[in-house]
Amino acid sequence: MSVPDERQKEFKAPRGTRDILPAEIEPWRELERVCRSVMEAAGYLEIRTPIFEHTELFQRGIGETTDIVEKEMYTFLDRAGRSITLRPEGTASVVRSYLEHKMYALPQPIKVYYIGRMYRYERPQAGRYREFRQFGAEAIGAQDPAIDAELIDVFVEILSRMGLKDLEVHVNSIGCPECRPKYRDAIREGLEPVMGRLCEDCLRRLTRNPLRILDCKNPECRDLTKNVANIFDHLCDECRDHFQSFSRFLDISGIHYVVDPRIVRGLDYYTKTVFEVISRDLGAQDAVGGGGRYDGLVEECGGSPTPGAGFAAGMDRIIQLMTARKAPDEGVSGPDVFIAALGDDARLIAFKAAIDLRRAGVSADIDHMGRSLRAQMKFADRGKFRYVVILGEDEIAANEATIREMATGAQTRVSFDGLVEALIGRCLRS
Ligand code: HAM
Repeated sequence: MSVPDERQKEFKAPRGTRDILPAEIEPWRELERVCRSVMEAAGYLEIRTPIFEHTELFQRGIGETTDIVEKEMYTFLDRAGRSITLRPEGTASVVRSYLEHKMYALPQPIKVYYIGRMYRYERPQAGRYREFRQFGAEAIGAQDPAIDAELIDVFVEILSRMGLKDLEVHVNSIGCPECRPKYRDAIREGLEPVMGRLCEDCLRRLTRNPLRILDCKNPECRDLTKNVANIFDHLCDECRDHFQSFSRFLDISGIHYVVDPRIVRGLDYYTKTVFEVISRDLGAQDAVGGGGRYDGLVEECGGSPTPGAGFAAGMDRIIQLMTARKAPDEGVSGPDVFIAALGDDARLIAFKAAIDLRRAGVSADIDHMGRSLRAQMKFADRGKFRYVVILGEDEIAANEATIREMATGAQTRVSFDGLVEALIGRCLRS
């Protein structure tokens, strides 16, 4: 072990990032398993895109006036002087991949899902990190409002299989390039007389992106926008029909939801349906995830007009909700076998037995710290191994090993030759 040195710098993970330690990993793995299983049952296949992309993809895809592009991207020049950005979200990359690999030539829609890390330079707080994890799904190539409802169903199914309840599904429509400009004007008109009372951010939004004023968290802005124009009075026929049909599909799924005109989303690519899943238990950062339809994005990224829809969920927030609800499961059994051995000959036998057990699918470990036999037993007990094999002086002299079942303390002696078989029998049978 090294002696602490005063000159030695203590390294910490960068602000807004964190380690997920072995003791914390199980809920993450469980969430990933459930995510894969639910997504695949609905016909979504996994896609893995790069962690970084050309900056322009996000500028074009997410929108120049969004918070993400304006102030939250991790952007740098690579050694050849190209502008590169760590992905702040997954949708733009999936669309880029769809076009690059000519997936439009395949039977539509293309349905994919992803699980991965995203990067946003935000002010870290509970539930908000600079490196965070999302799972998400994208369905590209279909206008069908059933897709919008299917995405919500998949999302809610994953959350309910993870044991999360008390979640609220909020849905809305934000129209399309045909009807949204008129709605924007109506908001501007409605807020002009009270402009002076809007917060600084909303004042800026009034000219650039007035819809975003609707989801401002500032209580005074919320109050001022209470009676502002309603999107449903401004939707064009196509958007209205789409929303009605989407609602029918969502109704038949049995999912409880509310229509919430304040859901406008923070990314520019949305058209028609938008939605968020919210948990009151999360505090200020209450969105478990969100998504919607983006019928103009493929074209924006250089393809021909192609509809699409998707969602992404914040895995860090889901884990936070899960761990708040569930005490760690003490009953979980640990690895299968620890082989405690004393002396060089015994260690050789232990090493070989451990390898043979692992090859047969039984998890096995030995001591690497030169501990006494007693200390090895203590280590195995703390590590919650199911069986400990003892190779002490007595055993070696008799060409035998002692197998102890840790839960009961029951011990049996077996010959070296029969040791691996005996353990495989015990561990793989139960
Ligand atoms: P988003 O709303 O920006 O949408 O992010 C989705 C979810 O990711 C959020 O609801 C939140 O749970 C989580 N999240 C976002 N930022 C952070 C952060 N800094 N720390 C922890 N969690 C965070 C999108 O990303 C869209 N790409 C969703 C989508 C897919 N729309 C269509 N397809």
